Amino acid sequence: MTNLRLTKQLADLAEPLDHIAEPVQDAVTAVPQPVRDVLDGVWFGNPLHPALTDVPLGAWTTALVLDLAGSESADDALAVGILGAVPAALTGLNDWSHLKDDARRIGIVHALINTMGLTLNVASLAARRGGHRSFGRVLSGVAYAGTLFSAHLGGHLSFGLGVRVNRTAFESPRDRYGPVCDEDELNGGKLVGVDFEGEAVVVSRSEESGEVCAIAATCSHLGGPLDEGKRDGDIVVCPWHGSRFDLCSGEVRGGPAVYPQPRYETRVRAGKVEIRIAKDDKAD
Ligand code: FES
Repeated sequence: MTNLRLTKQLADLAEPLDHIAEPVQDAVTAVPQPVRDVLDGVWFGNPLHPALTDVPLGAWTTALVLDLAGSESADDALAVGILGAVPAALTGLNDWSHLKDDARRIGIVHALINTMGLTLNVASLAARRGGHRSFGRVLSGVAYAGTLFSAHLGGHLSFGLGVRVNRTAFESPRDRYGPVCDEDELNGGKLVGVDFEGEAVVVSRSEESGEVCAIAATCSHLGGPLDEGKRDGDIVVCPWHGSRFDLCSGEVRGGPAVYPQPRYETRVRAGKVEIRIAKDDKAD
């Protein structure tokens, strides 16, 4: 069975859990935005969850090796992994709260296996401390196998389904100006969505400086259409999950997005707005 068929089957198996997933996602999205920005990694400039999962995975791999070597230091490594699993789980739950359809279902399977793995590792540590070392090693060995499979599902979510991948990473318009709209269309603070050589761009006029601004319109988080978002001064709010971007610089002003929007240079010629990709944002 191919990997894609397996993950699809897992997603189908998890479909009955949809009715539980929705209220859980609602509860997570009700967490105050500053807390969510920390969990998203807005301050870090990259999603936080993948980095944090290295701690339990690395610690439990160390525990396995030490167990095989017959060292009781494996217990310490197991404990470090258990502690590291908590922030990894919280950031993962936060990332999952934006997902839907198959990605959400695979995320549920990923979380359930990780929860079982964590429980087994806690039981393993208790068994070891109670003098049942061999049984404890069996428990953590089973947990490790599950955790590896779950890590594979996490990889599929990112690389197979594009979760938390920068949705603007592959935009590469040519390095020359091209007309995209009339200057008059920007009157009244409008956000004007245009197509520039196959890339969606949102053009606006800054309320602060009066300059014409343009940034990629495909939200770097999960691809929401920024030209359909709400304007808040010189900020655009993504209509899908509320990420906030500076309309002129493309910088992230609020999560869940962590990657800035590509920025375009603009000029006005004979009443037409012309744009090209900003040289400092894209390599030639
Ligand atoms: S797609 Fe999620 S905030 Fe824009």
